[in-house]
Amino acid sequence: MNNSTHDLLKVYDLRKNYEMPSDVLQVLKGVGFSMKAGEVTFIVGRSGSGKSTLLHLIGGLDQPTSGKILFEGEDIVTMKEKTLTKIRNRRLGYVFQFYHLLPELTVYENVILPSMIAGRCEKKWVREILRRVKLLSRQNHYPSELSGGEQQRVAIARALVNQPALVLCDEPTGNLDVETSEEVFSLIGDLNREHHQSFLIITHDEAVAWRYERVYRLVDGILLKVDRNQEHARSTV
Ligand SMILES: Nc1ncnc2c1ncn2[C@@H]1O[C@H](COP(=O)(O)OP(=O)(O)O)[C@@H](O)[C@H]1O
Ligand SMILES: [Mg+2]
Repeated sequence: MNNSTHDLLKVYDLRKNYEMPSDVLQVLKGVGFSMKAGEVTFIVGRSGSGKSTLLHLIGGLDQPTSGKILFEGEDIVTMKEKTLTKIRNRRLGYVFQFYHLLPELTVYENVILPSMIAGRCEKKWVREILRRVKLLSRQNHYPSELSGGEQQRVAIARALVNQPALVLCDEPTGNLDVETSEEVFSLIGDLNREHHQSFLIITHDEAVAWRYERVYRLVDGILLKVDRNQEHARSTV
């Protein structure tokens, strides 16, 4: 099998309801899409449209009401908790808006931590990742000594440490100014081109998403593939 083109992720008819005291909130009403290894896919959509809900389900952090999520051929919805924990730690990486770094640990320690939890401790590899995100010279600094963009680069390095098949990013630049956002997306682009790292990215920053081929929009609980030309025409009318 050619590793660069196999199906990494296949989502079928995914539904998520939140049970409220008086009624049921149907957030996802039958979402389906797929990703191949080595791809960067974007999901855009209005605030409250269910983007984070979808990413949490794909990341095995929450259970759907129904549907299938095949990740590397296995359904993470029905898999045993022990297997899921392993996949969450070793095959998936997570990047969030507010970085979620541990303030009492240095850059180096933050990045190596998931690999220690996985029972590895590859110091040479950690230094290689820090080099890729251009933070080797800052490895002994604490998060509070770094800018927002640098902290997000640490979070990306940490997400990469166990060599995940897929990195899930929820508004990775939501807390950053335009210029710093560009740097973070440019890093993601480099990691994809040079190291074939796959990313699934939720963003408000549609201008960035349009540079990529695979963009979906979450509307009324359904995921629609966006036609870049039509969107461009609409936004310039
Ligand atoms: N745990 C929850 N319980 C009830 N409602 C929730 C919960 N999490 C999210 N929601 C609701 O689901 C909808 C989608 O939320 P979310 O996935 O966070 O949207 P987005 O990330 O696109 O802004 C919102 O209306 C939100 O209030
Ligand atoms: Mg969200």
